[in-house]
Amino acid sequence: MNYQVDEKGFYGEFGGAFIPEMLYPNIEELRLNYLKITAEPSFKKEFMELLVDYVGRPTPLYFAKRLSEQYNTKIYLKREDLCHTGAHKINNTIGQILIAKRLGKTRIIAETGAGQHGVATATVCALMGLECVIYMGEIDIKRQAPNVARMKMLGAEVRPATSGSKTLKDATNEAIRDWINNPENTYYIIGSVVGPHPYPDMVARFQAVISEEIKAQLEEKEGTEFPDYVIACVGGGSNAAGAFYHFLEDENVNLIAVEAAGKGVESGESAATSILGKMGIIHGSKTLLMQSNDGQITEPYSISAGLDYPGVGPLHSHLHQTKRAEFIAITDDEAMQSGWELSQTEGIIPAIETAHAFAVLNKKQFEPNNIVVINLSGRGDKDLSTYIDYFNLR
Ligand SMILES: Cc1ncc(COP(=O)(O)O)c(C=O)c1O
Repeated sequence: MNYQVDEKGFYGEFGGAFIPEMLYPNIEELRLNYLKITAEPSFKKEFMELLVDYVGRPTPLYFAKRLSEQYNTKIYLKREDLCHTGAHKINNTIGQILIAKRLGKTRIIAETGAGQHGVATATVCALMGLECVIYMGEIDIKRQAPNVARMKMLGAEVRPATSGSKTLKDATNEAIRDWINNPENTYYIIGSVVGPHPYPDMVARFQAVISEEIKAQLEEKEGTEFPDYVIACVGGGSNAAGAFYHFLEDENVNLIAVEAAGKGVESGESAATSILGKMGIIHGSKTLLMQSNDGQITEPYSISAGLDYPGVGPLHSHLHQTKRAEFIAITDDEAMQSGWELSQTEGIIPAIETAHAFAVLNKKQFEPNNIVVINLSGRGDKDLSTYIDYFNLR
């Protein structure tokens, strides 16, 4: 079984580039150049230096002793929350800004849900002195206010998306609209393994540093490169793609992708794409998509802005269809309880997106000698107001 993208940009039946004609030259320019550029020694050197000195990589692989005792198994946390800006998103924005510069682009746009990708994009634009416009749903602007302030402080313009559910999908629509109007000077930094080929593959490659490090760190700590389980939450799927990447071909490593069930899979307020979705096209890619019988996209819902998306990247649709990864849906309440538990057990307040991944510990029984790696994709600072309201912490 092959889990890598093929020459036409497909993972099995999923992927491709379904784009308006106006964007064809941009996507084609990227498709023809991304592998060439990223293979250049000067690119590799600059990328690695920034990951080490600016982002703070490698991030630790931390053995969570108290959590392990509680669940009677060996739990390791890959600490992407310790990356500069507070989440894995910056691994990808560093890579893409270096590509944008080499393509001679002067203006950067991006979409954001939780604001982590927006902050990571605004950060690298400040670092490189480039103009930056971030599109963000009106609802997300309210629930992720600290990140909006950070983007502004970093010099980015934040433009609200006011259509649809006023969340990530709508912000992405606006960013694509901007790109169509400014195809010459503008580069679109997509924040997840979504969008037209080559974005899903390019973003997965930049995030693959996560699993590369896990292998080396496990070898040192456990004498094996291979865990029994890797667990990660999935919005579009970039932190999961990065955590899974170097284990995809090792079928003994069980991969668990965790989606947001919102108020319940059958509640009508959910973002559990793998269960509720059918094949469709969203944001330039053929993938699993929540939609009505006549193909209208269903408005998604999750308490976490970063998982509030009606699709998943084409790699994840393929992993679901081939059963290479197990998909588990976690409700808002289950995620919030797990966020509370991790805070009190290990002294780590996770992003609410990440809290969904921890809730799997209550859904699956692991063996005492299993090595379970959970990708801790981001910190909870941005979510404090949601935690405060939910747990009445005033
Ligand atoms: C901390 C965190 N984890 C996970 C996600 C979900 O994105 P992805 O599935 O691309 O990793 C986000 C998105 O904003 C996020 O901020």
